[in-house]
Amino acid sequence: MKKIVPLILSATFLLIAEGVRAQDNAGALKLAGQYGCTSCHNAEVKLVGPAFKSVAEKYAGQTDAVDMLVTKVTNGGSGNWGRIPMPAHPQVGAENTKALVEWVLRGAPSK
Ligand code: HEC
Repeated sequence: MKKIVPLILSATFLLIAEGVRAQDNAGALKLAGQYGCTSCHNAEVKLVGPAFKSVAEKYAGQTDAVDMLVTKVTNGGSGNWGRIPMPAHPQVGAENTKALVEWVLRGAPSK
């Protein structure tokens, strides 16, 4: 039993990680439309918020970027790109927000 519990735990984490990775680019783009991200953001050009490609460049190689940005999208805030605040998005949920942030950090490809 002592050996089985950590095994089950790590299998569960692997499955969760796989689920997030399986979130493909087209699916992420659809989510971004569904949750209104694309009314303020575009992959290439700055709208109300920064271009997603610029976000990817800014945080390239920064290992804590995913966690930081998931918190930022969930709670909203300003200051990293200017004075205009991003509204909070608690309705998106942790898993979808993480998938969206990882997609943004890939440069928000459409397919
Ligand atoms: C009402 C407009 C608006 C909407 C809707 C919006 N954003 Fe933003 N977003 C902004 C603004 C403005 C900023 C810049 C905030 C700053 O300067 O720190 C931003 C910044 C970001 C950043 C970079 C944050 C940082 O600190 O560098 C990410 C990632 C992001 N948005 C993702 C999303 C996602 C994903 C969604 C949809 C769930 C979304 N945004 C919806 C306006 C918006």
